[in-house]
Formats: sequence, C-alpha cells, structure tokens
Amino acid sequence: MMKRFRIRERFLYQYRFIMLKAGSIGVFDSGYGGLTILSEIQSLMPEYDYCYLGDNSRAPYGSRSFDIVYEFTRQAVLRLFEMGCNLVVLACNTASAKALRTIQQKDLPLLINTDKRVLGVIRPTAEIVGSITKSRHVGILGTTGTIQSESYPIEINKLFPDIQVTGEACPMWAPLVENREYQNEGADYFIKKNLDNILSKDPQIDTLILGCTHYPLLLDKIKSFLPDSVTALAQGEYVARSLQNYLYRHPDMEAVCTKNAATGYFTTESPQKFSEAATIFLNKKIDAERITLE
Ligand code: DGL
Repeated sequence: MMKRFRIRERFLYQYRFIMLKAGSIGVFDSGYGGLTILSEIQSLMPEYDYCYLGDNSRAPYGSRSFDIVYEFTRQAVLRLFEMGCNLVVLACNTASAKALRTIQQKDLPLLINTDKRVLGVIRPTAEIVGSITKSRHVGILGTTGTIQSESYPIEINKLFPDIQVTGEACPMWAPLVENREYQNEGADYFIKKNLDNILSKDPQIDTLILGCTHYPLLLDKIKSFLPDSVTALAQGEYVARSLQNYLYRHPDMEAVCTKNAATGYFTTESPQKFSEAATIFLNKKIDAERITLE
C-alpha cells in the first residue's frame, strides 16, 4: 500500500514538472545571476510560468572563449526548448553578447518548430540608457567577455550615437557572487578597484550600467563607493518591461505561454546547493532539480 502511494507521489511530482515546463518562459544564466532578472520578471508578470536554468557547474562564463560560451548557451537553449519552453530569455550578458546573434541567425532557422524565440538582455538595457544619462557619458561594468565583445557600445551607439561609452571588465565580481563571498570585506577591494578604474578612464560618466546579471547583488557595496553624481543602473526592471512589451507585440507567442504562476528551478550542479543559494538571492524558499547539458 505504502509502496503504491510512493509511486503515485513520484508520478504526480514528475507530472507536475512536465506540466509546468511545457509553455513556461525559459530564463537562462550561467549561474545565480539570472535570478535577479527572473525576480523582476516575476514581479511584473506573476501570472506566467517560468523555468529557470542555471549552468552552475560550468559557471562563470565571463572569461571563457566565444566558442565555448556559444556552445554552452546553445545546449541550454535547446534543453529549455525540449522541456517545452517556446520563448527563452538569456538572462546573462555574456551569453547575450557572445551567443544570442548566432543562435537567432543560425540555430533557430534549423529547428523543426520555427516558432521558438530567444531574447537577450543587452538591447533592452541599451534602449533605456539614452533617457537616463544627462552627461551622455556612460560606463559599462561587465565580464571580460561582455566588455571585449563591444556589444554594449555597438548597441548603444546604434540608438544614441552621441553617447560616449566606456567599458570596464570586472572578472572577479561574478565569482564573488557565485561563491557567495559578495558581502564580505574581500569584495570591497575588487569593487573599489574597478570603479576607480572606470571613473578615471572617463570622469564625466554619470550612469554606470551593471552589465552582468550577477552585479545587482553587489549594488549596496557599489553604491557605497560611488560619488552621488553617478547612478548605478541594474537592468532587471528594463528587461522585464521589454519582455512584457514583446509579449504584447507578439500575441501568437503570448498565447502559447502558460499562466499558472508556477516556476521550476533547474541547475547543472547540486540542487541542494542551488536551493540554498537561490533562497538567499530570492528571499524565498525554492526547490531545484538537477539536469545535465551536453
Ligand atoms: N551573469 C552573467 C552575465 O550577465 C555571467 C557571469 C559569469 O558567468 O561570468 O554576464
């Protein structure tokens, strides 16, 4: 009797995940950082279902080569599609900078179901910056990969050619978050060093874009080292609004996004480790499931 009950429980548990995943909006990041984007999306559009995937076992992506970031991101996107997502948001600047365009132009046209879509975080952030900066001098803080790709200056200058964009790679910041060392004093050294660097490269900067989804977790420390004249801009809110706008403009996609207000969390590392960390980042208890990518 007890055994039959357990089998039934297990079936219902798996069925719940299968039901949850089909029609969910996929949200992908190398690790925990994308949770800062997911929570903004969830608070703007709580009615939809989401499927978060963190490739924690291979994070950080920031210092990896173009080919590797593309390959890892492609695997994650295809996996989310397999799980039933029709729309995937790359809640990762490094993946958006190094993989989005190739996935959109090369991989999506090869799929049998050509209605699947992938969106990134750089364009929605570039779109907003013109209405925020007054000095027209903007700084980008990001991973080495994001800064080297020049994606931000390219996207911003397409929309606002008058804005001068300066980048600063902060290779230690995402690992500080990923290893949950971001509130410790050790973090201060690296944060201050990179902020001093970028402001000495261009002292007229009045807006600093946090161009990595891990960085909002460092926001309090970042603000404590910035002069009042400089605004640190986290992108989650703008990405969420841009997604809402996208769904409004694409009713066919909106119609295939399910609405049970449920979220599934998936990681390529230990689910227990992920649940503990995600609970801290999201301020609520969550359960995670492990999946493999290849
Ligand atoms: N959170 C990611 C980003 O927005 C990547 C951080 C990393 O894996 O290095 O760039």
